[in-house]
Amino acid sequence: MFVAHLPVQEIFESGKIVPKEYIQPKDGDKLPPLLMNYETIDCSLLSISNHEELAKLRCALITWGCAQIVNHGIPESVLDEVREMSKQFFKLPMEEKQKYSSKGNELEGYGNTNAIQQGSLNWNDKLHLHVYPQQKRQLQFWPQNPHHFRATLEEYSKQNKKILRIILKAMACSLNLKEEEFLELWKDEDKDNLHARFNYYPPCPMYDQVVGLKPHEDGTLITILLQDKQVEGLQILKDNQWFQVPIIPHALIILVGDQMEIISNGIFKSPTHKAIVNPQSDRISLAMLFIPSKDKEIGPIHELINQESPQLYKRFKDYGQYFKQNIPSGKRQIDAVKIHN
Ligand code: OGA
Ligand code: NI
Repeated sequence: MFVAHLPVQEIFESGKIVPKEYIQPKDGDKLPPLLMNYETIDCSLLSISNHEELAKLRCALITWGCAQIVNHGIPESVLDEVREMSKQFFKLPMEEKQKYSSKGNELEGYGNTNAIQQGSLNWNDKLHLHVYPQQKRQLQFWPQNPHHFRATLEEYSKQNKKILRIILKAMACSLNLKEEEFLELWKDEDKDNLHARFNYYPPCPMYDQVVGLKPHEDGTLITILLQDKQVEGLQILKDNQWFQVPIIPHALIILVGDQMEIISNGIFKSPTHKAIVNPQSDRISLAMLFIPSKDKEIGPIHELINQESPQLYKRFKDYGQYFKQNIPSGKRQIDAVKIHN
C-alpha cells in the first residue's frame, strides 16, 4: 500500500515532536561504534603490475566490503561543487522542491524515502534520478535550480563511469582473473543502469532513537558514495559490531553491492551499512548506483568455483525482482538467490 509521508525536512522545520513511526526498536546491546581504520587505496596505482596496491584493494573489499579511494581523477573542487549543489537543492523552499516530487510509489524524484518502506521509518529525504540509459532519463525530476545542477551531474556521472572501469579491472586482477572479466557487467550506457541518489538527513533532536537509513545492503554491482565533508554518518557492520566510516574529504567510497558479491562467489562482501543522524547538523551524501541491465545473466564466475569453494549463488537475470521482495528480519536480500549446499 502506498502511504504518502511528508519530507522529514518539513517535520524537522515545523519544530513538532518526532512522529513515533520514526522511533526505532532497540537493537539489542550493540557496542558503541568503533572507528574504522583502513588504508586508502590510490586509484592511480591500480595497475595489473602493482601487486601491492591490488592486494590492498582486495583486502579492503574482502574485510569490509568497502574501500576509500583517492587519486581517482575527480578534482576536490568538483566533489565540493557536487556537495554544494546537493545542499542548495535541499535548501530550496519546499514548493520549489515539490516540483520534482516522486509520483505515487515510484522511485524517481524528490521526497521522503519511506513511500516504499516497511516497518519504522528512515529520517531521510532523497532525490533519486535515473542517469543511464540516457533514454530512461525523466528530466522533469532533474532540478534546474541550482542552474548548473544537470550539467554537473552529467559530468560527475561520466567521471564515475571511468572510476568504475578502473575499479572493476583492478578487482578482477586482484583475484588473478582476466582484467576484462568484470567489465562486461557494466559497460554499455545504453543498456546498463546508473542511478544517482542524493540523500538529505535533517538534524534530529532524538538522534539516538532515530536512524537516517536503516541497516541494508545495496542491490547494486558497485556503489560509489560521496560523503558529506563535515558530518559523519555512514556505518558498516562487521562481526556484529558497527564501525564509523571516517570522513576523508577528497576520497570516494566504493561499496560492494549484492551483485558483485554474487559474481565473485562470495569473495567480495556486500556490507550491511546504515546512516545515522546528527542532533545539530544536517548531512548530505550522494550514492551512484551501478546496476547491470536486467537482460544480463548474473552468477558466480566459473573460475571462482571449485571443490573448496562451491557455487554459493544461483544464476539469474534481473536481481531487482528478488530485491523488492520483503525479507524476514535477520535475513539479507541476497539470501533469495543463495544455494544451500
Ligand atoms: C545509500 C546509503 C549512506 C549514506 O544511499 O544506499 O547507504 O551515508 N547511503 O548516506
Ligand atoms: Ni546503501
